[in-house]
Amino acid sequence: MQVWANGRLLDHPDEPVLSILDHGFTVGDRVFEAIKVVDNVPFALTRHLRRMLRSAAGLGLLAPDPDVVRRAITAVLDAERIDLGRLRITWTAGPSPLGSGRDTSGEPTLVVASASMKPFEPSVAVVTVPWPRNEKGALAGLKTTSYAENVVALARAHERGASEAIFANTAGHLCEGTGSNVFYVVDGELRTPTLESGCLAGISRELLLEWMDAVEVDEPVEVLDRAEEMFLVSTTRDVQAVHSCDGRELPSPGPVTRKASEVWAAREPEHSDP
Ligand SMILES: Cc1ncc(COP(=O)(O)O)c(C=O)c1O
Repeated sequence: MQVWANGRLLDHPDEPVLSILDHGFTVGDRVFEAIKVVDNVPFALTRHLRRMLRSAAGLGLLAPDPDVVRRAITAVLDAERIDLGRLRITWTAGPSPLGSGRDTSGEPTLVVASASMKPFEPSVAVVTVPWPRNEKGALAGLKTTSYAENVVALARAHERGASEAIFANTAGHLCEGTGSNVFYVVDGELRTPTLESGCLAGISRELLLEWMDAVEVDEPVEVLDRAEEMFLVSTTRDVQAVHSCDGRELPSPGPVTRKASEVWAAREPEHSDP
């Protein structure tokens, strides 16, 4: 693992770099990106940086400088080659008083970390969880580090022998996973929730919608009870089949999921933008 923080590559990845008064640490006032690296090249970097700027603006944070982020990425990847791995970029609000009020004169912290990862499992079990995503909330659709709800939901999934938890939103409509967007097939039609559902505007979701015919639709989460196929997409999964949802077996991969994986594999190299 290599870590760049506030202008320099660290000697050790766990070297302290953050004030305990940083608002990102005290209240989760911080945004982040996770970016896949293949053959030492970041995947879809421009899209990720664009989303990071959107997330920062949504929280009312200063904008990180994309050129500085790109230089930091080059520094970590030059320091240690990654065949398959991920980058994590974190941009925090900076030191602030203890409490929800942000001190806007504080100096934000930028951290870029790189780490190798194993190839993802070809298929997973998922369970739905009872806690709704708030599609009307101030953070809806933003990639902030306020992820404790995801931690709790994922722990519930693990307790039940599954590897991903699926949220509905406050309207009872299917929304997303803790770290993934959801696609499913009904009557042969590939569907995924709209961004109005409160799901993250996943880069993998965005790309797959450009590459394949799929319908964006919001419908009750119970639609999964009659889904013919289901798969997850995310930076660390690409297209990942779901073999069981709430204990109901699903074909993995079914024909549409297989097609999505093939399309992904064929189109992915186009988006290795350094
Ligand atoms: C809540 C949530 N939804 C969806 C996704 C998928 O987004 P992406 O394809 O950009 O990785 C993620 C990624 O971590 C996520 O955290």
